[in-house]
Amino acid sequence: MKILAIESSCDETAAAVVEDGRRVCSSVVNSQIQEHRKYGGVVPEIASRRHTENIVQVVEQALQDADCSLQQVDAVAVTAAPGLIGALLVGTNYAKGLALAAGKPLIPVHHIRGHIAANYLAHPDLKPPFLCLVASGGHTQIVQVEDYTRFTVLGRTRDDAAGEAFDKSARAMGFPYPGGKYVDEAARRGDPTRYRLPHPKVEGSDYDFSFSGLKTAVINLLHNAAQKGEAVVIDDLAAGFQQTVCQVLTDHLERAAIQLGVPAVAAAGGVCANSGLRASLEGMCARHGWGLYLPPLSLCGDNGAMIGAQAYYEWLAYQPAGMDLNAAASMEMEEAFTPPRQSPLTGIVQVAQSGAENLPKV
Ligand code: KG4
Ligand code: ZN
Repeated sequence: MKILAIESSCDETAAAVVEDGRRVCSSVVNSQIQEHRKYGGVVPEIASRRHTENIVQVVEQALQDADCSLQQVDAVAVTAAPGLIGALLVGTNYAKGLALAAGKPLIPVHHIRGHIAANYLAHPDLKPPFLCLVASGGHTQIVQVEDYTRFTVLGRTRDDAAGEAFDKSARAMGFPYPGGKYVDEAARRGDPTRYRLPHPKVEGSDYDFSFSGLKTAVINLLHNAAQKGEAVVIDDLAAGFQQTVCQVLTDHLERAAIQLGVPAVAAAGGVCANSGLRASLEGMCARHGWGLYLPPLSLCGDNGAMIGAQAYYEWLAYQPAGMDLNAAASMEMEEAFTPPRQSPLTGIVQVAQSGAENLPKV
């Protein structure tokens, strides 16, 4: 089954064609980062406007690269939540238009479920159950992936997401937006032991995170040094900050994996491109003999292929969306957009509300 997938939840206009949830036929990502960089962060209205301008071309390119027409795909999928609402609405409405015009089923996908599914594209042997660390610009969660469409969030950030902490600390260190990858580069040259930074702890939870204290510590250290006219060795500060974040993320994941007895661990989201985090997760898994699944760097950040991968499993589990599908700025990843195909009580397969004429054999 070939799915055309669209992603526009933040500042990447992306589209891909993915077959059976596992094979990428094409993937086009148009990043707006250069434009937002001027403002030190993503400007929601600009993001929506650029998606509106670029989406037709990005989708056409994805179809062309996959050597197929809209008629030849079996369904249209789209990230419908969570994210910047104006940005999500562009993709969602465009996908609705395509599905309606071509008579194809419409599959809504949760962005974080998509990030996790990036691993299915890179690792043909990966199947749930497994435990996944999700670390992106907007989310930091430890997720128990019980099945392709069944999740339990065990821990989450109480304040800043890991990527947000990277970007805000990077900004204070003088790096351009988004600063995660610059901190990563600087940290490789630095000594992580020079500056003492607090290890963030959350009272009453084994798995929740808090990164705002660490970010504030970095900002205060830089301000205090500036006031005293002292120089800060940015490479060392970057190394100390990165090591602290990576340790906290790895420790929480390790605790959860031991407690649940899960033999396979995965990671997902933009921050998983971080070299320190990848090394620290590799060390943890080597110590315990756990399987480790990391997406390639090209699939860590936002892309359409991950949405196409997850969409296949959403299609098997849930009814397609109707033309009343709306986008949502926030939504828990455990929630579903549409009712299940099969009634959990009777086991009877329900008739899809739309696109029924295209139902494959499930
Ligand atoms: O998953 P993503 O592309 O977008 C969201 O869904 O948020 O994640 C973007 C985040 C940004 O905060 C960016 O700085 C961070 O991922 N990031 C990194 C690295 N590459 C991207 N953080 C640390 N080290 C990196 N190498
Ligand atoms: Zn993302």
